[in-house]
Amino acid sequence: MKIAILSRARTSYSTQRLKAAALDRGHDCKVLNTLRFAIDLSTNEPDLQFRGRPLSDYDAVLPRIGASITYFGSAVVRQFEQMDVYTPNTANGITSSRDKLRAIQILSRHDIGMPATAFARDRKDVLPAIERVGGAPVVIKLLEGTQGIGVILAPDKKVAEAIVETLQSARQNVLIQQFVAESRGRDIRALVVGDRVVAAMRRVAAGDEFRSNVHRGGSVEAVDLPAEFERTAVRCAQIMGLRVAGVDMLEGADGPLVMEVNSSPGLEGIERATELDVAGAIIDYIANQVSFPELDVRQRLTVSTGYGVAELQVHESADLVGKPIGESGLRDRDVTVLTLHRGTEVIPNPRDGRVLEANDRLLCFGKLEAMRDMIPARRKRRAKVRKLPPDALTLDD
Ligand SMILES: Nc1ncnc2c1ncn2[C@@H]1O[C@H](COP(=O)(O)OP(=O)(O)O)[C@@H](O)[C@H]1O
Ligand SMILES: [Mg+2]
Repeated sequence: MKIAILSRARTSYSTQRLKAAALDRGHDCKVLNTLRFAIDLSTNEPDLQFRGRPLSDYDAVLPRIGASITYFGSAVVRQFEQMDVYTPNTANGITSSRDKLRAIQILSRHDIGMPATAFARDRKDVLPAIERVGGAPVVIKLLEGTQGIGVILAPDKKVAEAIVETLQSARQNVLIQQFVAESRGRDIRALVVGDRVVAAMRRVAAGDEFRSNVHRGGSVEAVDLPAEFERTAVRCAQIMGLRVAGVDMLEGADGPLVMEVNSSPGLEGIERATELDVAGAIIDYIANQVSFPELDVRQRLTVSTGYGVAELQVHESADLVGKPIGESGLRDRDVTVLTLHRGTEVIPNPRDGRVLEANDRLLCFGKLEAMRDMIPARRKRRAKVRKLPPDALTLDD
């Protein structure tokens, strides 16, 4: 395959290792400086210019987008996606994981353990937010910090409140997080490639520092990852839309607590600590997947009027409970089940013979009208509003 590594750091350990791994395996590989692209939307096909010239054909790109160029870098990646060039990490995945709040919001509906976190803007909401995450000491984080910069431990409420106010006055958004003391300055970095963890290490903070980042002097050691940590790391990467990711977890009293998911994980620390060929695993994975460029499924499936994607819930009382999918009547109503979610388990392409259970969630494609009465009722939290008169709405046929 012909692969481009999108990176501004041509000589960094990670870039060099990835390039060498690709060349060793007989691939054609170039390192292209992300900032030298120009996105061309002037013709009727999406295109890219590199250093002022039309870019040649690539089968795959491996984005290594630094935090300082997230907006431009992810736009370049998105353009490659539009050109059907395979990328293990989508533009969407990169931008959602980069913002710590956004990442936690996305992960929060998927049963992933995370330190209690709050986000507040008004000064009146800051103290209650600190209380909600369990009171002082609390960790305060800039939404887009990396390498431990912008992560502060506040020993008491007054200091925490002052830090939040100071940062907000400097136009910085911050989140407030429970301090997980039992992890004692240690955390786990799991490197996910595709559907598995290919390497994992424990990072231990230096001295009385609580941040274990290597850039803050943390030391690293290989670790045999317990199954629960492995499952959590893989699920986080999948949910974020990242096929190459570094998932950071604290060792909480009740299991893994995810702090963040990195879309351009550094390879130096983890390869040194584990003596594993992580770069090779990444390149092999990409070579294997290159014929499946990312599709925005929802976008593609909702272009037929009246059809769309919806998640249906099997109510406890529904007569669907105990029935195989083939006899559920869904097919007759023009509804196809794409995946079945049962607790934390996901069953892709469930067969006709698969028997439905109460509280199963079915991700379906089909006639919106047919699915409407099966969509779980929203929990009502909003104040009542007056109904529109029936003639106020004109519906399309
Ligand atoms: N809630 C927390 N409780 C205890 N330690 C934490 C907490 N959040 C972060 N840390 C420590 O600080 C380090 C940096 O935090 P992280 O959220 O990963 O930010 P960064 O993007 O800067 O690496 C972590 O690796 C961990 O050692
Ligand atoms: Mg981190």
